[in-house]
Amino acid sequence: MNWNNPFTKLLEIKYPFVQAPMLGVTTPGMVAAISNNDGLGSLPVGGLSAEKTIELIRKTKALTNKPFAVNLFANEYETPNSDEVTAMEKFLQDFSKVNGLPYQKESVENYSFHSYRELIGILLNEDVDAVSFTFGILDDESITALKEKKITLIGTSTSVEEALLLDEKGIDIIVAQGIEAGGHRGTFLTSEPLPKIGVMDLVPQVVKQVLKPVLAAGGISDGRTIKAAFMSGAQGVQIGTAFITSDESAAVSSYKSAILNASETDTVLTKSITGRWARGIKNKLITEIENAGIAIPAYPVQMHLTTPLRSYAMHHDNPDFISLWAGQSSGQAVMKPAAVIFNDLVKQAEDLS
Ligand SMILES: Cc1cc2nc3c(=O)[nH]c(=O)nc-3n(C[C@H](O)[C@H](O)[C@H](O)COP(=O)(O)O)c2cc1C
Repeated sequence: MNWNNPFTKLLEIKYPFVQAPMLGVTTPGMVAAISNNDGLGSLPVGGLSAEKTIELIRKTKALTNKPFAVNLFANEYETPNSDEVTAMEKFLQDFSKVNGLPYQKESVENYSFHSYRELIGILLNEDVDAVSFTFGILDDESITALKEKKITLIGTSTSVEEALLLDEKGIDIIVAQGIEAGGHRGTFLTSEPLPKIGVMDLVPQVVKQVLKPVLAAGGISDGRTIKAAFMSGAQGVQIGTAFITSDESAAVSSYKSAILNASETDTVLTKSITGRWARGIKNKLITEIENAGIAIPAYPVQMHLTTPLRSYAMHHDNPDFISLWAGQSSGQAVMKPAAVIFNDLVKQAEDLS
């Protein structure tokens, strides 16, 4: 089957299949496995330091000489409300004590979340092929600098209005992220109320209004969903959850098991863990923070506040207190090498042609 289209041409790839960037889960090995098999791997570096970003890009380049995207978080910062922070810290300390988890409080000044602006120079120097981003739009200066270097830009939208803004800013490729998707919502215009549009409605409506290639993200898990995405007008698919259970994934084993055993109703949208809307498998951490009924500090402060107990739980492979980010298609996932999962998805779609 000939998968050639404007999207594959832009990036000089064979298959219009993107492995979604998944911070905390994606490794250089996962990115390289997809790119080496002629899809587009995506390396997430959102919020990471310049040093870590250079290290990850170079590790990936050592494993593949094919194109891959580097993924940024394009959010701006909100000053945290100190009363909300104090109340949440107190709640998390008590919660940790009751559940036998250590809770080492960190002062807000010590939080390390790096703006994408610190990373643009690195992306220019490291000669990356594509830059994707979520949670906002890169500023004009960054867009111009990246475009001058002929770097392909991929932005994330969760509504037609967001897609139109990305289009206006000259972004080359637009991801339409449906509400089925695992992980954080890319929403950047109005998050209250959160746009909750399913991928099968979002993709055709975005395609109708923008001329750029559109990638469908959310709930793509097999040949049928891939074909449906292309039939709805997408020129590519961006797949996350299906790769969380891959051999190359950094997810701990209880996280992988939770995905394999999840039914289509087990994920929820929540702000409880990070202060930003995200979809994950419901666990004790989500339930108890939500039941506490106290204000949740804005992202990324809440993310930092829950980090000590999530890190401890991850270290002990305890799924009750980690973020089990996953989409509605979780139960379709399989535990195999990323390349096998990828090639099987391509084959399933081709067999339906
Ligand atoms: C564990 C996890 C982490 C994610 N992290 C990122 C990220 O760092 N950057 C990003 O643009 N999208 C991130 N996403 C969202 C994906 O890009 C994509 O929209 C989503 O995985 C597609 O839906 P699916 O999970 O149903 O395949 C993440 C998704 C998951 C499941």
